[in-house]
Amino acid sequence: MKTLILYCSDYGFAEKCGQIIAEKTEDAVCINFKSNEMKDLDLSIFDIIIIGASIHAGKISKKFKEYLISNESTLLKKKIAIYICCMDNDKAEEYLKAEIPENIYEHAFFKGHLGYALSFEKMNLIIRTMIKNISHQDKNVEEIKYDIIDSLTEKLKEYSF
Ligand SMILES: Cc1cc2nc3c(=O)[nH]c(=O)nc-3n(C[C@H](O)[C@H](O)[C@H](O)COP(=O)(O)O)c2cc1C
Repeated sequence: MKTLILYCSDYGFAEKCGQIIAEKTEDAVCINFKSNEMKDLDLSIFDIIIIGASIHAGKISKKFKEYLISNESTLLKKKIAIYICCMDNDKAEEYLKAEIPENIYEHAFFKGHLGYALSFEKMNLIIRTMIKNISHQDKNVEEIKYDIIDSLTEKLKEYSF
């Protein structure tokens, strides 16, 4: 079963999660929605598509959401899993429901929150100051939910027949 992990990441955490999933999954490729590889991407050749998105100001990337909506009919023919990355554990479920187009959300066999990272050196001064205030953190943080990644990769094995 050919698997695509298509993620949209601003600061690299959703990308890192995608790469960890790819290492644990046979015949998987990772594509960054913001890369040039998107030009040649043909979703129809994949059996399973894992959609990964990070949350900024309560939302996933507008362009990524538009892409998901415009490719909805192809995505609904595939086995779909979805993960998001955000720092607010309590809101993760709400973000997933609000930000992932409804039909794709309903169709997905897996939805999960894989944690978050704050890499202050990658942020500009204004964003760094804002996020330090909101998060009450002043050092880089990384919390990867390896248990949720494992449940995703286990489910993938079940769905690979
Ligand atoms: C500018 C900015 C805005 C953010 N807004 C939110 C938010 O509204 N809710 C939340 O739970 N996390 C928020 N976060 C935390 C990110 O979701 C978290 O850092 C995530 O790991 C980012 O993924 P990425 O590295 O793939 O971009 C924000 C982070 C940044 C830098």
